Amino acid sequence: MRRFFQRALAKAPKMSEEQLRALLQALAEENGRLETALDSMLDGIIVCDREHQPIIYNKTAERMLALGPGPDPSERPLWVCVVDQELASFFHEILEGEDSVTDREFDITVGGRNRLIAASSMTLVSQGRIEGTLIHLEDITDKRKREAQLRRAESLASLTTLAAGVAHEIKNPLGSISIHIQLLQKAARGKETVPVEGLSHHLGVVTEEIERLNKIVVDFLFAVRPMDVELRESDAGALVKEIADFIRYEAEGAGVAVETSIEAGLPRVLLDKRYLKQAILNLAKNALAAMPDGGTLGFKAWAGDDAVHLYVEDTGLGIPQENLTTIFEPYYTTKETGTGLGLTITFKIVREHQGDISVNSFPGEGSVFTISLPIPQREKHLLAWKSGDGKGVEEEA
Ligand SMILES: Nc1ncnc2c1ncn2[C@@H]1O[C@H](COP(=O)(O)OP(=O)(O)O)[C@@H](O)[C@H]1O
Ligand SMILES: [Mg+2]
Repeated sequence: MRRFFQRALAKAPKMSEEQLRALLQALAEENGRLETALDSMLDGIIVCDREHQPIIYNKTAERMLALGPGPDPSERPLWVCVVDQELASFFHEILEGEDSVTDREFDITVGGRNRLIAASSMTLVSQGRIEGTLIHLEDITDKRKREAQLRRAESLASLTTLAAGVAHEIKNPLGSISIHIQLLQKAARGKETVPVEGLSHHLGVVTEEIERLNKIVVDFLFAVRPMDVELRESDAGALVKEIADFIRYEAEGAGVAVETSIEAGLPRVLLDKRYLKQAILNLAKNALAAMPDGGTLGFKAWAGDDAVHLYVEDTGLGIPQENLTTIFEPYYTTKETGTGLGLTITFKIVREHQGDISVNSFPGEGSVFTISLPIPQREKHLLAWKSGDGKGVEEEA
């Protein structure tokens, strides 16, 4: 269409009045069609010129920003035309800056109702020249509500699974407590005197089972409670080293050698030490349990392109291929006194770190659990500069 008008314009001096009128008519119609299309969009669109003045905006944008009646907004920079102070300073910042912005969120009032708006901007470039800025506004209020509903439904579903698990878990200790208390009652009613060892055996079992109940409840609460992770840039390698030193004594007592291999100068990653420590300790404890006849427990940390990988390796029993996903499910355990929550909790902690956990295992040979934590963007730039690009600059100079 644009080319058609360019050609028509080139011929304009030679056109008759009638032909010119037809051309104008075509232009007006074309413009009308574009306007209708823009105005029927649910998203707000604003185009600003190089002076940051809004030259095109659709009905939705007009409504969202309350550009309303008054002086023609197109004669002032956009931020002056907007009533909402937060949005106004955002427009000021993006229009005077050069970076594109994606989905910055704002709470604003539109027609007396609170709405959540996501604003994005893009520089308009034509033939290598900056022509202005395109701003896109999307009302994400309902989308956010639906997402929250979905999250609630999901967490309710997993809570139900967990609760069913707990109910199942507490049945055994409760049953056992009840049997031993009945035996104690019987002994108390009996005519003959009961030896003290008999009584203390029953009491011992009751105490043990109460402890088990307590652990089930504590672990359950840990698994369901929202985590208050506070992510800070830290050295994951140092944390792994600390854990290896912490567990060495217990491991060596069980005939397990502890080895560490930590890459020097690991990029810092975002982590909450308290929680990540718990996650790695859970892996280490499982590894020890998998080596009843001794072996080697290895801790490794090294950096990949996008993530720092932390490995906990053992030379133990291994896990059959078909159980490699089941082991992360709540209450799955193959141990007499296991809770089956260790890996569930570890998984949850790793996800709270925006990380991943994977496992590789060879029955009879051992297992490797890998926690991968994303390297923040800023750290990646620093790394690239240190290891390659930086030197490149020096060589060129
Ligand atoms: N390193 C490992 N080697 C072999 N099996 C493992 C290892 N880690 C976990 N498992 C298996 O996964 C199950 C679940 O682990 P977890 O969630 O920590 O619960 P628990 O340790 O209480 O059993 C364990 O019972 C065990 O069968
Ligand atoms: Mg465990």
